Amino acid sequence: MFEEAQLSAPVTRSGEGDVTVHLSDNHPGAVDPEYRARRNALAALAMEWQRGTPLPAATYTDAEHDVWRIVCSELHGLHERLACSVYLEGKQRLGLPESRIPQLVEVNELLRPLTGFQYVPAAGLVPLLEFYGSLADGIFHSTQYVRHHSVPLYTPEPDVLHEVVGHGNCLAHDRFARLYRLAGAAARRVQTTEALEFISKVFWFSLEFGVLRESGKVRCYGAGLLSSYGEIQQAAQADLRPLDIARMGVQTYDITHYQPILFCGDGFGQVEDLVGGFFAEVDDDQVQRLVREVTASA
Ligand SMILES: [Fe+2]
Repeated sequence: MFEEAQLSAPVTRSGEGDVTVHLSDNHPGAVDPEYRARRNALAALAMEWQRGTPLPAATYTDAEHDVWRIVCSELHGLHERLACSVYLEGKQRLGLPESRIPQLVEVNELLRPLTGFQYVPAAGLVPLLEFYGSLADGIFHSTQYVRHHSVPLYTPEPDVLHEVVGHGNCLAHDRFARLYRLAGAAARRVQTTEALEFISKVFWFSLEFGVLRESGKVRCYGAGLLSSYGEIQQAAQADLRPLDIARMGVQTYDITHYQPILFCGDGFGQVEDLVGGFFAEVDDDQVQRLVREVTASA
């Protein structure tokens, strides 16, 4: 959940050990003391968890389960119409519950036999290299909180719906899982911040906000689109550009709006060839070369 982290609420722990999630004033849950207490409790669970120990169970309220159910129900038909076929296969294989929020440990039990990917809890922002590098090991850092129930179809932050419905259904398919692992290996291979940020942008414009054409129709394969009730429906109206690693790696984005520019693959195979091929081979020199080329041609 690193990318959306620009809008992720900061999490702090006081000297007494109290964990606080600092929601912005315009967050839908900012004036709901019960919601704020829930967020603090879930963040504390993640902060207290030690790797190698059982994952902490989050006790969700009925209202939170309702949010999950409403969003899954709304996304169901949208996925059928607008998700790429590989995502739909992954979704079918994973078989997430749609009527209640699954615990991360349940998600892991479903994922493990499929691709070996495993979720671990994150309180909030995960540093770029840690988030990506872990993907190489099949580890996905995930928030556990749910968006505020007053606006179930909107979230300013990456919540468990984004992490599990968006990314999880992808990670259930070996073709996606391979791309995520390659992205992780790429992040660990490079030495410079510039190269890591370049990789993160390629990831953003592919595995978060990527679209592709299938049978002449625009279909979504990015988790950010696949978990967004509004944006998935607008994706085909974006300024769609051909897959171009150099341009993806330098393209700026504003996470507070729908993405005006999306990069569109010619089928999932082309995404694997170009994006997967890039992740498989990229090093610092290649990033420098790509940036030079795209700057010279601008
Ligand atoms: Fe994400």
